[in-house]
Amino acid sequence: MPSTPDWPALLSDALAHNPHHSARYIQLATLSDSGDVTCRTLVCRRWLPDTGTLVATTDLRSHKVRGLRRHEQAEACWYLPARSEQFRLRGTVTLTGAEQGSSLREEIWEALPDTGKVLFTGPAPGTPLPPGYHGPDSTPPAHLPDCFALLTLQPVRVDYLNLSTSPHQRWLFEYHRGDAMRRQWHARGLVP
Ligand SMILES: Cc1cc2nc3c(=O)[nH]c(=O)nc-3n(C[C@H](O)[C@H](O)[C@H](O)COP(=O)(O)O)c2cc1C
Repeated sequence: MPSTPDWPALLSDALAHNPHHSARYIQLATLSDSGDVTCRTLVCRRWLPDTGTLVATTDLRSHKVRGLRRHEQAEACWYLPARSEQFRLRGTVTLTGAEQGSSLREEIWEALPDTGKVLFTGPAPGTPLPPGYHGPDSTPPAHLPDCFALLTLQPVRVDYLNLSTSPHQRWLFEYHRGDAMRRQWHARGLVP
């Protein structure tokens, strides 16, 4: 049995072995406002190992946001192919829009390519295609649009699977109360 790992270190190490942009896509499952399960691909724009937080961006007018305003729980599934590793990160999502005044929101917006910025200028995602609509403007907006938001996932449960080792490895990390009511991570190995 290998020694107990630490999941942020495992994820940082996995990302170092998967430097390509396509390895920054996560699948985020949430509940819709009517309680149906729904899932989509997002780009993980920041991984903050010190807090164990994932940051993506989204449009506040989208369906996922409507669902998240009712049900803040979500699970991200992140497959990192270089060593066949899967992380399932479950926790709560926080949305940071214009009202919250975040410097990280501005920083991530500035780093977006123009092709990403223009997506926030068109009609709301998931609404019927307007007649004659041929896509957003080709010039990015002069100001940071109000609908541009950070979507931050704070995991409280991480299920890690590695299929590149023999035997395969699976670890479950759960964040709950420990001694003296301090919250801490607990890890246990599972049958893969
Ligand atoms: C490769 C890829 C990357 C994507 N990245 C994002 C993203 O970073 N943020 C986002 O809101 N949607 C992204 N999308 C679009 C979403 O998957 C989804 O279609 C959109 O957010 C609307 O989802 P919703 O109706 O569940 O709100 C991406 C799609 C693909 C295929």
